[in-house]
Amino acid sequence: MPSDTLTIVDNRTGKQYEIPIEHNTIPGAELNKIKASPDGPGLRAFDVAIANTATCKSNITYLDGEGGVLRYRGFPIEELAERSNYLEVAYLLVKGELPSTTHFEMWQHNIKMHTIVHENLKQFIDGFRYDAHPMGILIGTVGALSTFYPDAKAIHDVESRRVQTRRLIAKLPTIAALAYRHSRGLKYVSPDNDLSYTGNFLSMLFKMTELKYRPDPVLERALDVLFILHADHEQNCSTTTARVVGSSHADPYSVVAAAAAALSGPRHGGASEDVVRMLHEVGTPDKVPALIESVKAGDRRLMGFGHRVYKNYDPRARIIKKIAYEVFEVTGKNPAIDVALELERIALEDEYFIERKLYPNVDFYSGTIYEAMGFQMEMFPVLFAIGRTAGWVAQWAEMLVNDERIARPRQMYLGEGLRSYVPLDRRDDSGEREPEIRAPY
Ligand code: CMC
Repeated sequence: MPSDTLTIVDNRTGKQYEIPIEHNTIPGAELNKIKASPDGPGLRAFDVAIANTATCKSNITYLDGEGGVLRYRGFPIEELAERSNYLEVAYLLVKGELPSTTHFEMWQHNIKMHTIVHENLKQFIDGFRYDAHPMGILIGTVGALSTFYPDAKAIHDVESRRVQTRRLIAKLPTIAALAYRHSRGLKYVSPDNDLSYTGNFLSMLFKMTELKYRPDPVLERALDVLFILHADHEQNCSTTTARVVGSSHADPYSVVAAAAAALSGPRHGGASEDVVRMLHEVGTPDKVPALIESVKAGDRRLMGFGHRVYKNYDPRARIIKKIAYEVFEVTGKNPAIDVALELERIALEDEYFIERKLYPNVDFYSGTIYEAMGFQMEMFPVLFAIGRTAGWVAQWAEMLVNDERIARPRQMYLGEGLRSYVPLDRRDDSGEREPEIRAPY
């Protein structure tokens, strides 16, 4: 008997099945062959939140949550954060290898060629209310890009995919900056392609009356590293969304808009915003124990803590914590960091957090940096989205190259059996309230 197999005995029928194990997974379709009766349905795995199911084969990001290891295309995140830059990492994610000098120059040039957005897009952004959440603006505007580039529908055309990839990586910072300036009532700033990718982003955000904006090199580098750290994270909620939407063969702007929408929630990228809100609410380190108690009592979650796959310190959080102090040298210390440090100290000694393996995640310290740099909290998930765009487009292209089928999960139906339609005038009309949706389990 081959050793890389799983033997399953179906006690309903007494039948035995040999299922191959490949890379520590079993093919889900094999379960479908297991039937209680020849004409009955095949067996299915019940896996809410796709928590223990590999949904694709991927070469992009390696993550060992128990060991706290993260690598892009084999390169440790620590090395990339120390020695690379965001555009190079974006190339690595999208193309699979680090670029040669010539290829990197071409890549940079090609991205910079696409930083400008159509004038109508600015009017589109003007249509949002002055207090619109920048993440809502980003999601809507990226979705609108698909109407500006109908050629993006040619998803099987390699050249078209290349162009849309460059456009997306190039235009995300421009749209983010437009959203920021719209929220502040400031005139929009055109891209300055003499600057680096991140330097230009800072210019589009913060340029006022000066003829040329010169970004502070420490802040420029810090933001660039933050983009690297957010660039990919294998099959997280937003990336899975990108692959699922892409599997219907929707265009890449719709794919990235959908992924950004998934990112915006407070359990995902939206957490960065809620962490700083929580730190401000706590105010001073002496108030931390009270917060910890309310978390342990189940009244709330400690934002920026916990992760579906990391059961160890998130390696990105460790790097971000270090960057925070470099940024504070320039901006002055954000007092919220003292509350964050005290929270981490107490939580990591507390049985509740130890037992559940809850550690600071990528969002725990990032907000204190963004705030010190002058961003309002609503911009934090937008900054996350800029970095993650490289990962989304890389994963989308991989899904297409793998020629994956349309995503179509199954369900466990627990609803009503067959019922017959009752005409309106014969239904019970005595209830005061409309029925609420009921949880099936
Ligand atoms: N504070 C307090 N308790 C927590 C937390 C938290 N932040 N996270 C998980 N737990 C507890 C949870 O109550 C549960 O306890 P019990 O077993 O007693 O019911 C246990 O830990 C396992 O939690 P879970 O809900 O099964 O974990 P999950 O894998 O479904 O959720 C998570 C992962 C990230 C959504 C969750 O940890 C969370 O809500 N964290 C706060 C939000 C956050 O920081 N999100 C950013 C994630 S990292 C960046 C990103 O992906 O965007």
